[in-house]
Amino acid sequence: MSNENQKPQSTPEATQPNETPSPFLNQTLPEGAPQGQQQSLAQATTQTSTNSNIPHYNLPRGAQTGNVGATTHFGFETINTTDKEQKVAQVFHSVASKYDVMNDLMSFGIHRLWKRFAINMSGVRRGQRVLDIAGGTGDLAKVFSREVGPTGHVVLSDINESMLNVGRDRLIDAGCSNVDFVLANAETLEPFEDNSFDLVTISFGLRNVTDKDAALQAMHRVLKPGGRLLILEFSKPVFEPFAKLYDLYSFTALPLMGKLVANDSESYKYLAESIRMHPDQRTLKGMMENAGLQNCDYHNLTAGIVAVHRGFKL
Ligand SMILES: C[S@@+](CC[C@H](N)C(=O)[O-])C[C@H]1O[C@@H](n2cnc3c(N)ncnc32)[C@H](O)[C@@H]1O
Repeated sequence: MSNENQKPQSTPEATQPNETPSPFLNQTLPEGAPQGQQQSLAQATTQTSTNSNIPHYNLPRGAQTGNVGATTHFGFETINTTDKEQKVAQVFHSVASKYDVMNDLMSFGIHRLWKRFAINMSGVRRGQRVLDIAGGTGDLAKVFSREVGPTGHVVLSDINESMLNVGRDRLIDAGCSNVDFVLANAETLEPFEDNSFDLVTISFGLRNVTDKDAALQAMHRVLKPGGRLLILEFSKPVFEPFAKLYDLYSFTALPLMGKLVANDSESYKYLAESIRMHPDQRTLKGMMENAGLQNCDYHNLTAGIVAVHRGFKL
C-alpha cells in the first residue's frame, strides 16, 4: 500500500493516459472525447467550477474524468447520458440478492480488507454523523453504526431500492438502531442538508454515477466544515505485468462467475468494463479538488487495483 499524493505532472508524455487497449479486451474503448463523451475537458472543467474561490487544478491532459455531455459511457458502450441511470439500476436490481456472496467470491474476500483500510482512514468517532452514499448492502454503515455509538447517527443511502432493502434488512437484523435508510441519488443528495455530516463515504459506488463532478460537489455540500470525504473505488493498477493478469481475470472469470452464481454474466461484464472507464488516481484527486475538497490524497491498495481517496471540507 502506498500513498501517492502527487501533483499532476506537466510534461505531455507524463500526462497522456495509457491508450493501448489490453490484449484481453475484445472491444476497443469508445472513440472521440474522453470516455466517449462529446464535451471537451476544458469546457467541462469550466462549467463545473461554480465557486471562483476553488483553486483551479490542471487535470492530466486527456484525463478520463467521466464529465458528461450528451453521451456518456456504460462500460465500453457509448450511450445517451439520460439512459445511464436506468441501465445502472437494472444491473443492481439484478445482482442485489447475490451481491454479497459475489463480492467475496470475486475478490477472494479481499474487499473486506479494502473496506477495513478505508474505515481506518475515516477517523470516525463516537457521536459523529456519517453518510454512506451508494451504500448498497451496508458493509461500511454496519461498522460505522458501532463506531459512532448511540449518540451518533449513520445514514445508509443508495439510489437503488433492491440494494437498499438488502442493506436495511441486514442492519436491522444486526441490531443497528442508529441507522436511517434513505433512497438518494449521489448526484444531488437532495434529502440531505448542507453542512450536516462529519464523514461522507462512497465505496465502489462513484464509478456507477453518471455525473461524477455533480456528485463530488454534492458530497462537499453536505459535509460539515472540518468533515472528511472518503472514496473507495477500483482504480488503475500501477504494476504493468500485474495489470495484464488482472485484465485476463476480469474479462474472463468475472462474467463466468456472474453467470454461474447470479445467472447474469452481463452485469459482471459491465463491472469489469466500468472499472476500466473510471478516472485513474490522479484524475480523481484533481476532480475532488475541483469540487472544493482540500488536502486531498490517495492510497493505492493491492497495487492500485483499488484506491482510497480522501479529502476535507475546510
Ligand atoms: C458496487 S455497489 C457498492 C455497494 C457498497 N457500497 C459496497 O461497497 O459494497 C454500487 C452501488 O452504487 C449504487 N449507485 C449507483 N448509482 C448511484 C447513484 N447515482 N446514486 C447513489 N447510488 C448509486 C448502486 O445502486 C449500488 O448499490
